[in-house]
Amino acid sequence: MAVRKIRIWPDPALKEVAKKVQTFNAELKSLVTDMFETMYKANGVGLAATQVAVPLRVITIDLDPNGQAKDEPDLKADLDSMGYKGPIAIINPELVAAEGELIWSEGCLSVPGINDEVERHETVTIKAFDPDGKVFTLTAHNLFAVAIQHEMDHLEGRVFVEYLSKLKRDVIRRKMERLKVESTDDGVEAAQIV
Ligand code: NI
Repeated sequence: MAVRKIRIWPDPALKEVAKKVQTFNAELKSLVTDMFETMYKANGVGLAATQVAVPLRVITIDLDPNGQAKDEPDLKADLDSMGYKGPIAIINPELVAAEGELIWSEGCLSVPGINDEVERHETVTIKAFDPDGKVFTLTAHNLFAVAIQHEMDHLEGRVFVEYLSKLKRDVIRRKMERLKVESTDDGVEAAQIV
């Protein structure tokens, strides 16, 4: 198990179109384990392999990363109504059906500190595989549907900021450049040595 480095937009790795997983082996399982670990450490609810510079069609989602639903019946009911049943790894997803629209203020681990509104389908049905290679079909609503569409975009090399205006995107790009300067590898290493 290892926490992997999340690429920050506009890192070129985020533009890569991911390839289908061909072999459901131990290497894939270890990627999935690492992705969950990386996502939890970064306090995210979704991650695509593209974000850790692995160009494979692999997504992890956990809409209840702190396990609050077991103590909060309203949250549990919300998650149930989205078709969400718990942490899930989604391999080689294909969109089978989509309907409705909703606007959600999205964020992304590759664009830290930025949230903005994006229009998505309210409901999506996907066909995908689990890490054992077993096929499944899933219908998701609301935030769960948004998360799936956001992560499937990553697999196509698309980050949500690309839906925003050029003006907003330029502002975000400058913010991300500053962030990179502040967290250079040298800086982190120096801090660790101290
Ligand atoms: Ni993202």
